[in-house]
Amino acid sequence: MRNIVVLGMVTFNLGLVIGLVMMSHFLNKSEAQNFRHQNCLGLSRSSCDLYSGSWVMDPSYPLYDPKSCPFILNQFDCLANGRSDREYLQYRWQPRNCNLTRWDGEEFVSKFAGKRIMFVGDSLSLNQFQSLACMLHNAIPNARYTLKRKGSISTFRIPILNLSLKIDRNALLVDVVKENNTRVLRLDSIKGAASRWIGNDVLIFDTWHWWLYTGRKQQWDFIQYGLAIERDMDRVLAYRRGLMTWADWIDRNIDTNKIKVFFQDVSPDHLNSSEWGEPNAPSCGQAKRPIIAGKYAGPGHPASQVVNEIVKYMKNKVEVLRITQLSQLRVDGHPSIYGNSKHRGMDCTHWCLPGVPDTWNLLLFSAL
Ligand SMILES: *[C@@H]1O[C@H](CO)[C@@H](O)[C@H](O)[C@H]1NC(C)=O
Ligand SMILES: *[C@@H]1O[C@H](CO)[C@@H](O)[C@H](O)[C@H]1NC(C)=O
Ligand SMILES: *[C@@H]1O[C@H](CO)[C@@H](O)[C@H](O)[C@H]1NC(C)=O
Ligand SMILES: *[C@@H]1O[C@H](CO)[C@@H](O)[C@H](O)[C@H]1NC(C)=O
Repeated sequence: MRNIVVLGMVTFNLGLVIGLVMMSHFLNKSEAQNFRHQNCLGLSRSSCDLYSGSWVMDPSYPLYDPKSCPFILNQFDCLANGRSDREYLQYRWQPRNCNLTRWDGEEFVSKFAGKRIMFVGDSLSLNQFQSLACMLHNAIPNARYTLKRKGSISTFRIPILNLSLKIDRNALLVDVVKENNTRVLRLDSIKGAASRWIGNDVLIFDTWHWWLYTGRKQQWDFIQYGLAIERDMDRVLAYRRGLMTWADWIDRNIDTNKIKVFFQDVSPDHLNSSEWGEPNAPSCGQAKRPIIAGKYAGPGHPASQVVNEIVKYMKNKVEVLRITQLSQLRVDGHPSIYGNSKHRGMDCTHWCLPGVPDTWNLLLFSAL
């Protein structure tokens, strides 16, 4: 028997279960299946929220062996860097009222042969891109692949399938231009990068973390909005203005009936251990299992609120991958000191692979 440890509260909708049992009594088998199917589809819009649930132990996880993924970045390869606890590899996301479709590499291949999928964003995008490339390579390990970088774009391609996964490293989405020997973040301009995004079949955007930096890591000297040029401003407001420019670009340039557009919601970091009730813990270091659903007291993300508001008012359909809360529970999923073999630093921002971004990709497929 499988040993399933359920973290968090899983509540069954008893009325629905009884209803289904009664229904199947009166319907023949295929009608009953059909009913269940429709019911789940109906649920996925109302009470079947794929994003609310808990992490459960599943011995069939992880979805791939990192040793079989030769291009995995060392920064994400926690096992290779000496992480010895393994429980974190085996958690599967279980939505409360329905099931997340299991990863099926063959189905992915048949659906996406001939297609181009592009991630655009910062290193959290890179994390998700690498996860998807590993999942895909693992599904068809004998198919030849190429991995090339040209400027800001890396492309993982499987020639026999004419299938490309790409990532455009672009931390802010809007333009940063050189002017009078200074760098100006232009909140109302996006033309510099946007031309690279045309011509793909699926686009998955992400931005947030780099809007917060000050000092050496800040990517600009001035912020421009319309005619106003300022040294600094409220960063959440700057983010809102930048995202509005992005939303406007999508509305004008992308036919979302043909091209699917996603926004990867804020990937939470685990730097402040008071947020999960362990004020003495060294950030995410030493965490070996997820936080029990409901125990995470940390604040909602202001940036996440901005994303959801902006997408709601867009003309075109953009789906938000609402990964923030489910990832907040995965304090155990970060590299911590295993982001390099010398165990320098403490990375509580990125995610080990295999790991949490694999689940983001499962959520992505179920939305495709
Ligand atoms: C989810 O999967 C489990 C185990 O495979 C199954 O027993 C259950 O009926 C499924 N639930 C739904 C809503 O499809
Ligand atoms: C490969 O796919 C692209 C679209 O992604 C298409 O334009 C091209 O014709 C395809 N090439 C072959 C050889 O099928
Ligand atoms: C750059 O110099 C021009 C001319 O002096 C000025 O109009 C403009 O505001 C300057 N830009 C910035 C970002 O300081
Ligand atoms: C850490 O989180 C706690 C609880 O949410 C909060 O009160 C505190 O201000 C946070 N500390 C820092 C340095 O952000």
